[in-house]
Amino acid sequence: MIEQVKGTQNIFENDADKFLYIRNKFFSVFNNSGYSYVQTPHLEYSELFEKSIGQNSEIVTKQMYQFKDKGGRSLVLRPEGTSSIVRYHSQYQKDITNQYSYFGQMFRYENPQKNRYREFTQGGIEIIGNIDTFSDFQIINDSIKFLTELELKFTLEINTIGSIKDRENYTKELYNYFKLNENELSDESKEKLEINTLRILDSNNQEDIPIINKAPVITSYINEESLNKYGLLKTILLKNNIPFKENTSLVRGLDYYNDLTFEFVGEDGLVLGGGGRYDRLAEILNIGTFNGVGVAFGIERIMNTITAKNTNPKIYIIGLNLEKITSYCHLLDKNGIDYYKPPRLSKINTQFKNAKNFNVKYVVNTDEDTIKDLENNISIDFNIEVLIDN
Ligand code: HAM
Repeated sequence: MIEQVKGTQNIFENDADKFLYIRNKFFSVFNNSGYSYVQTPHLEYSELFEKSIGQNSEIVTKQMYQFKDKGGRSLVLRPEGTSSIVRYHSQYQKDITNQYSYFGQMFRYENPQKNRYREFTQGGIEIIGNIDTFSDFQIINDSIKFLTELELKFTLEINTIGSIKDRENYTKELYNYFKLNENELSDESKEKLEINTLRILDSNNQEDIPIINKAPVITSYINEESLNKYGLLKTILLKNNIPFKENTSLVRGLDYYNDLTFEFVGEDGLVLGGGGRYDRLAEILNIGTFNGVGVAFGIERIMNTITAKNTNPKIYIIGLNLEKITSYCHLLDKNGIDYYKPPRLSKINTQFKNAKNFNVKYVVNTDEDTIKDLENNISIDFNIEVLIDN
């Protein structure tokens, strides 16, 4: 038997319903409020992510699906969407400010477990160009609308990590502190010390927690302008009654961030989505000087959190006469009514059983011109109004 690749998924039945429900919500919330959908390639040159996410980040050092194509080019299966959208913006939209949405698979060589996959789906939004604190607020506010429409419970956690220079200074201090306490760190954090000191702050390992709790906090290293911008955002959130929790350890794992970082954390600590500002990303990639802010959601994580929504059709059409079935289908289509129909012209009893398996309320028998209500087993003469009303 050919096995399925570890860390990948087949999304089917109940999960498929949830997945499509979330995707529809994503587009109805974001694309109806000014974000235009962009689909960028799954394949990119390695250089894009090495420069954007950072040579020392965990994603680049350990998690990229990277290979040489037949022409000897170094390619990767994209681990995230922001860098590609920024590349797209510089190619086609450089001189304007634009809002983008994207939705699709990402690839990271992670240790597979529930809510952590090697191939997973992100839905993201970005505002790129000449942006301000109102743009930061919009990304957060529109995200809240999306999560609220999905009836999710979450906490908004925010932080400022200052300028890239501030972060360098802070990282040096943090390195000195962790170096002094190296013996008490977990093996995983010891490994991060030399290559990605900041990420030690994200550790959930119990061994690390007491040392992390006493570590210097980033706030003391942040320049005044960044602190003012952060203060303004907090005021706007408060004025708009948006609750938030400040988390000074929220540094996030991608090097391109400056100033604002934030995450939406589910009830059980599961991070449903995260993002922040990336004002220097275009410069780092040498493709312009525009700024950006955005967020991406883990669609499978949302799928594993929400309860199933039944938006399936309530009607099943059966019959043995192809022309009659087709004319009933046309009638229902004209009235905007969704329905199931048999995959082939099997015996009427088989079709009826199929209908029951789909848990529909009504079976339209096109041979007899009747509607059977499966909740009370009563059949009536066909009347389109009955289906319209339900
Ligand atoms: P990220 O935090 O790496 O940020 O990923 C965003 C979300 O994708 C996470 O919060 C999580 O829900 C989901 N996710 C990440 N890795 C996995 C995985 N292995 N399995 C399942 N879900 C996962 C970014 O990717 C940034 N590009 C976000 C951003 C947009 N920043 C600015 N704009």
